[in-house]
Parts: sequence; structure tokens; C-alpha cells
Amino acid sequence: MSPPKVIVFGATGGVGSAAARTAQAHGASVVLALRDTTKKVPGLSAEDEKTGAFQRVQGDLSKPGTLHDAVAATGATRAFIYMVHDGVDDHLRAALTALKAAGVEFVVFLSSYGVQGDIRAITPATFIPYAHAQVEIALEEVFGPGTYVALRPAYFASNSLQWGGQIRAGTGEVTVPYPSAEFDWVVPEDIGRVAGSLLARGALKTTAASPGDGGAEDSGRSYLYLMGPEMISQADVLQYIGDAVGRDIHVEAIVDDDEATEFLIAAVHVPDAGARGLVSMLRNRAAGTDKEFERHPDYKEMVDNVAKYGGKQPTLFREWLQENKDLFRA
Ligand SMILES: NC(=O)c1ccc[n+]([C@@H]2O[C@H](COP(=O)([O-])OP(=O)(O)OC[C@H]3O[C@@H](n4cnc5c(N)ncnc54)[C@H](OP(=O)(O)O)[C@@H]3O)[C@@H](O)[C@H]2O)c1
Repeated sequence: MSPPKVIVFGATGGVGSAAARTAQAHGASVVLALRDTTKKVPGLSAEDEKTGAFQRVQGDLSKPGTLHDAVAATGATRAFIYMVHDGVDDHLRAALTALKAAGVEFVVFLSSYGVQGDIRAITPATFIPYAHAQVEIALEEVFGPGTYVALRPAYFASNSLQWGGQIRAGTGEVTVPYPSAEFDWVVPEDIGRVAGSLLARGALKTTAASPGDGGAEDSGRSYLYLMGPEMISQADVLQYIGDAVGRDIHVEAIVDDDEATEFLIAAVHVPDAGARGLVSMLRNRAAGTDKEFERHPDYKEMVDNVAKYGGKQPTLFREWLQENKDLFRA
């Protein structure tokens, strides 16, 4: 039987590149679909691409015609896609329709933890969950149950790079709204490993090597939550970063909502629409009243899903930092 052919849109991304490498390692034939086909794919040298028989094609999720051409030219039947905001006003419905018409039969979509409960009840007031939920609705309606998986990861370890500029600037002072707020810091490579494993299998099945279930499970669900292995406060993460790069970091805390909102909009470029919601979440997490992640009835399962579906124990934040500490150095 010929290996499954997988196309990864956004193969230059943290999650996308890991999805591509993992699918190939699991025996799939992998197409790297890129907006700019000259760009490097993280973790793959030109030699790796040749040895692994990776193909490169042009593809832009905001231009459905390019998706049709990329799939038709390569014969791919399984696709990984990102959420895209710029140049898209239909939550990727036209893109998904083009993928299906060209021959894609199974999709892994990088969604978000914010998508909870009834996906049709999520309102535009919560900008990020709403946008991802709309793509999940389009997937359900265009592809249908059992032919796609929406990965819903929580808070990425790479979000700590928001402090890279301040740390590299050299004063050692980092301004942080509500620094005692805790997150799970899930590692993009781990999410990509889950995505790549699912692409290679073509369904929501566990890996053969995963603990407990021998790889037999096929839950019939269309989504999978993924959570990092440790809850760590923003202040502690900054401490770890300081230790890793050999710098004293002094955290300048903002604990006022208006000031925090202004800071996020001006310095971190969070859109106005999302800034207030983010600040109130940070305040509640800092006060310990928002233990949304930990209090979720499926919290343990969400953490375990990383190993269960990706085949490897989740990466700790400090391990991710060892690999990425140069990004915090001038
Ligand atoms: N940060 C979090 O805590 C969090 C939590 C839950 C979910 N998420 C989801 O994860 C995403 C970030 O994942 P990541 O860290 O892997 O991102 P990333 O490293 O920034 O990569 C984003 C990828 O998307 C590609 N891309 C952008 N626009 C595109 C388009 N129009 N057509 C095709 N490809 C396009 C980029 O390609 P180019 O090289 O061409 O730019 C790049 O490969 C978020 O956008 C969100 O949907 C994030």
C-alpha cells in the first residue's frame, strides 16, 4: 500500500514544522505548503528535505485557488491547517471547500483551548475562541464528523517570547501585567507531534507506543484538548529565563486593569477587542480565582493527551527554554 500523502500548510510555523517532520517519521509522504517557498522549515535542512523526500509547493490559506492547485498537483489527501485572520472574511470556509474539492479527505486544524462547549454558542465578544470555533463549524459542515480533528491547545511556551525584546534591550527590567498569573506553557513541538501523528494515521487514534491503551482507541470525537505539564506563573517563567541567559531580571508588575490594558495594546500589540478580556483573565488567574485550566474536569486527560496522541512525554518549560534560550539573548 502506498504511504498516505499529507500536505502541511504553514510548514514554517512552530506547530506546522513539527507536524510535517512527525508525519514523515511515521511513514507519510509529506508536502510542505508555504506562502514563500524559499523559506526555511524549522528542524529540516535542505539535506533532510531531500533524504525525507519532502516536496515543496506554494499555498496561501487566504487564497483558495492556491490550495486547490497545491493539492491537485501533489495528490495529497490529508491536510494540516492554521487559523488565518488576514485576508480571510469567511473563517476559512472557501479554503476548506477548495481543499475538499481538490481531494483532501482528512484535516487537522490548529484550534484553541478557548473553544469550549457548544461551538455555535460562542459569541464574537470572545474574539479568539469565536474565530477558531467558526473554522470548526465550517469543518463540520464542509468535511463532516470523523474526517477532521481540531486540536485545542492551551497557552504556548513560545508566548514567553513576548518578553524577548525587553530582555534583549538590556536593563533587566521586564514589565508584566499580573505576573503571578499561572499558565500551562504547552510546547509547540509537542502539539505538532500530535498533529503529525494524527495526519499519518488519518483519524483520532492514539499512537501504538502510547501508554495504557495499546493504540486501539478511536474516540469518534472531532477535537482534542492539549495542555502543558506544569502550571507556572509568569514571574517564575521570567526567573527561569533570567537563570538560563545569566541575567538578573526584575519584574515591573502592572496590577491595575486600565494600565494593563493600555500596556498590552501599546507594547504587546494585542488588539483592542481582546485586551480587556485578557486583562480580566490575567487578574483572575493572579488572584487564584480563575483556576479554569486546573478545575476543568478533564484537566488530567488534557495533559495526558500530549503523550497519548503524540507518543512522547510532554516537554517541560525549562526543557523548551534550554533549546530556545538564544532567542532571549542580544
Ligand atoms: N499562542 C497561544 O497560546 C495559542 C493557544 C492556542 C492556540 N493557538 C493557535 O496557534 C497558532 C500559532 O501557532 P504557531 O506558534 O505554530 O505559529 P507560528 O510559528 O507563528 O506559525 C504560523 C504559521 O502560519 C503560517 N501562515 C500565516 N498566514 C498564512 C496563510 N495565509 N497561509 C498559509 N500559511 C500561513 C505562517 O507562514 P509564513 O512563514 O508564510 O508566515 C507560519 O508557518 C495561533 O495563531 C493560534 O491559532 C495559539
